[in-house]
Amino acid sequence: MSTSRRFTVDLFRHSCRRPLNPAPSFRLRTSTARSLHTTRPTLNGPARPSPSTSPKGPNPAARGARVAPVGMLVGGGVLASLFAVAWQDHDDDWEPKSVQPSSQDRDGRDPSLPRFRLSDVRKHDGSSPEPWVTLEDKVYDITEWVGAHPGGDVILRAAGGSIEPYWKIFSIHNTAYVREILDQYHIGFIDTADLVNGRPAAEAIEDPFETDPVRDPRLIAHTTKPMNAEPLTDELDVEFKTPNELFYVRHHMWVPVVEEDKADEHALTVELPNGEERRYTLAELKERFPIHKVTAVLQCSGNRRNDMTRHAGKTNGLQWGVGAISNAEWEGVRLSDVLADAGLKVASATAVTRPSGGEDDDALDPKSLHVQFSGLEAYGSSIPLPKAIDPSGDVLLAFGMNGKPLPRDHGYPLRSVVPGTVAARSVKWLSKIVVSDEESPSQWQRRDYKSFGPNEGANPDWSRAVSIQEMPITSAITGVWVGDCVRNSKTVWQKSSSQSGNVIDLGAVDKKVGVTSTPKPSAEPIAVQGYAYSGGGRAITRVDISLDGGKSWDQAELIDDCATPGSCFGNKAWSWKRWRYLGKLPTPETAGEEKACSTVVVKAVDDAYNAQPETHSSIYNVRGNLATAWHRVRICPTCVDKGDGKGVVWSTGDKFGCGFKKEGEAGEERK
Ligand code: MTE
Repeated sequence: MSTSRRFTVDLFRHSCRRPLNPAPSFRLRTSTARSLHTTRPTLNGPARPSPSTSPKGPNPAARGARVAPVGMLVGGGVLASLFAVAWQDHDDDWEPKSVQPSSQDRDGRDPSLPRFRLSDVRKHDGSSPEPWVTLEDKVYDITEWVGAHPGGDVILRAAGGSIEPYWKIFSIHNTAYVREILDQYHIGFIDTADLVNGRPAAEAIEDPFETDPVRDPRLIAHTTKPMNAEPLTDELDVEFKTPNELFYVRHHMWVPVVEEDKADEHALTVELPNGEERRYTLAELKERFPIHKVTAVLQCSGNRRNDMTRHAGKTNGLQWGVGAISNAEWEGVRLSDVLADAGLKVASATAVTRPSGGEDDDALDPKSLHVQFSGLEAYGSSIPLPKAIDPSGDVLLAFGMNGKPLPRDHGYPLRSVVPGTVAARSVKWLSKIVVSDEESPSQWQRRDYKSFGPNEGANPDWSRAVSIQEMPITSAITGVWVGDCVRNSKTVWQKSSSQSGNVIDLGAVDKKVGVTSTPKPSAEPIAVQGYAYSGGGRAITRVDISLDGGKSWDQAELIDDCATPGSCFGNKAWSWKRWRYLGKLPTPETAGEEKACSTVVVKAVDDAYNAQPETHSSIYNVRGNLATAWHRVRICPTCVDKGDGKGVVWSTGDKFGCGFKKEGEAGEERK
């Protein structure tokens, strides 16, 4: 699909005749349900009866089929979850069928149904009043299904081509039951001229990720389609504001294409509880509302999941290291200003519009309302209205990131940024806001971003847990340097001396550890760095470090990145607190090629005296969400006697000790 066409489709999805999130019902069509067409013209032949009116009646798959609530498919009754990305939870009782090769004249397929060329199918794309899709060698007219599709009209993204790649993304469709539903819309077959071994050639099947942007090679990808990536650990917090190209990326689907010259026309629709709608273009948002900056972290609820897996047991989901978190300066307009302009009236001291006199009767209690955000591809989630209208809550509709337009991976041209809250609520490619008495119906609100007790297993009662909003306190080690690595100025602090507060003071190292003065040092210098962060705008007040697995503790130095006026924006502590620590590790008694391991531990405290749990097992949940236990990094430098009379030194090598790129190296704890 060309980029312009894709853009048209994206736009169409949001401006076309159907509502964005129609009340979904995922039902098998009954034989009387279809009303639109009685005869169906074929594009390479005369009009033929449509399958629904053919003497055979509805397709055999549909005959006698039951009408089932969507809850049968997903459990928990969350309708929107039908279009969820759940590649880790494949429900595989449907497999693409292999189709026998066939001749054009007698191809062994139902002769009563027409054959269509792929070029004909392409005419029935998302902008056509009769959208079609293909699956294997079959053609389906999904016109009627679109309105009833639980995932809304995102299905139009596949129109004009094969639905197969999308069903791979939304793997919940891969069931015999959903296949039965599609079979009801079967109108014909792909012409044999367009088939290779009974199926359309691979190049004829669209890759939804084809137009994704090129990423920085320093990002380590957990998956590429969709892209989910974090930087190497020791690159993560070299800078207070994460460079845009290193900011972690968390996508559930493809990156929608919005052409640069059309960005100002990008539309945001705001729907109020009474159903009234107000539409703003991006240009209008920029012109009509005061522009604000907020410096804030975004953190995925799966950050450090891999740590939980290694210490407490198997978890489902992307195995993030410590890098599903980044910090940036966001620029945009306040959500509260836009809601007020759209006419929202709520009865509260923090109301966007304070009704006066008799108008109070119309005012709504903000505590009962939610602000639902929807992105251009299909993602959606929500926040409680009180957070949205809190004057010190700093919720932005952002178009800028670190002084540049939002990069495509981070929501170009518009996203919500909800500081202090799980990043799942900062919706990229924002196109619709609905103020509603319900949370977003999406999978990502009702299921994925929740946490449960260690005993509750993989299929808990989803409705019982609240959705994650404000994030709990966490901290992580992002760099450890030992011995020569400190002496030889290999820490990132020493490398980036232009960064304020970022330079290691070798004089201090000498004083604390005796780096240079002792001919036979009894200790080796160790430099440790990392970040700490707490949600809800709670400031980090202390970071504790242990070099012996938690037996003894010292405090790290907190870097005051916001000291210079104009370096941080916002009403609360929305950014991470970078910290660093300089200490000494006792030199091991023996030298040789043996490894001497130590466990470095970090834990943080915020201004409400919240602290991190000691173990992951105490907060274990199968989803691996909110993995916030003390962060432990085992370092195993090798002891070497260089034979120069200076005794034993720790040669740590680049892999471990000169930085810290990965976790989990085995080794004996040093005594
Ligand atoms: N918004 C849209 N439209 N689509 C998405 O897949 N992912 C969410 C959130 N907003 C997502 C989205 C999640 S789970 C996270 S953690 C953050 O975006 C990640 O934002 P980033 O990729 O800019 O770091």
